[in-house]
Amino acid sequence: MRIILLGPPGAGKGTQARILTEKYGIPQIAAGDLFRENIKNKTALGQQVEEILKAGTLVPDAITIKMISERLDQPDCKNGFILDGFPRNVAQAEALEEMLKKKGIKLDAAVQMTVDDDDLVERISGRFTCGDCGEGYHDKFKPPHDPDTCDKCGAKDHFTRRPDDNEETVRTRLDTYHKQTKPILPFYEERGLLKTVDGMAPLKNVTAEILALFPSKKTPNQGIQAKKNG
Ligand code: AP5
Repeated sequence: MRIILLGPPGAGKGTQARILTEKYGIPQIAAGDLFRENIKNKTALGQQVEEILKAGTLVPDAITIKMISERLDQPDCKNGFILDGFPRNVAQAEALEEMLKKKGIKLDAAVQMTVDDDDLVERISGRFTCGDCGEGYHDKFKPPHDPDTCDKCGAKDHFTRRPDDNEETVRTRLDTYHKQTKPILPFYEERGLLKTVDGMAPLKNVTAEILALFPSKKTPNQGIQAKKNG
C-alpha cells in the first residue's frame, strides 16, 4: 500500500500513520519527524531548518524533496509506505509524481482528513509524545494508563511536547495549510486518487474509515487469521 495522508496540523495524520504502519508492516515517512530528528541530532540539515519549524512556515522545497526522495529509496519502502506531511504544496506534489514515475511506483490514494480549525488548537495543545519510542498521546483524548509511563515501551518520565505546539505557531501552521497545502487537493482529485475521511470522528472510527478505503489490501495479521480459519 502506498498512500499520502493529507490534512491540517493536528488532523491526526501522525496518529493514523502509526496505526497503519503496525497493521501493514510498512514505514511511516513523516517529513516533520525527519526534520525534528535532524534538529535533535544537530546535523547541518537540522541547523538549516530549526528556525523554520519554530516559526511554522514551510522548509524550502529543494531541501524537503531531496530528503523524501532519499528516504523512499530505503529498502523498507519496497513494499509500501505512508507519507505523512508530504507533499505540502503543488510543487512538492508535482515533484513526488515525477519521482515515483522514475522509481516505477504508483500511488494508491491521497487520503484527506477533514477537521474543524477550532478543534485543532485544542488537539495540538494537549498533545505529547514518548521521547523514547515516539508513541503519541493527548491529555484528554488519549492519555497513557499511568500518567508518567509510556503504554507502548514502558519508558518513565520521558514524555515531551513539541516547541511548535504553542497557539501562535499553530495559527501560522494552519494559515500555511490553507494557503499552500489545500491547493493540492484538486491535483489528486484530477488523478482520481483523492479520498476523504472524517478526522473529527473518534480515533478508532477514523482508522476504520481509512481501512475501509482499501478492502483488497490485507494486513499481515488478517492474512494469518484467514489462514487459521481456512
Ligand atoms: P509536521 O510534523 O508534519 O506537523 P503538522 O502537519 O503540523 O502535523 P502535526 O504533526 O502537528 O499533526 P498530525 O496531523 O500528525 O496530528 P496528530 O496525529 O499528532 O510538520 C512540522 C513542521 O515541519 C511544519 O510546520 C514545517 O515547518 C515542516 N514541514 C513538514 N513537512 C514539510 C513539507 N512537506 N514541506 C516543507 N516543510 C515541512 O494528532 C494531534 C493530536 O490529536 C494528538 O494528540 C492525537 O492524540 C489527537 N488526535 C488525533 N486524532 C484524533 C481523533 N480522531 N480524535 C481525538 N483526538 C485525536
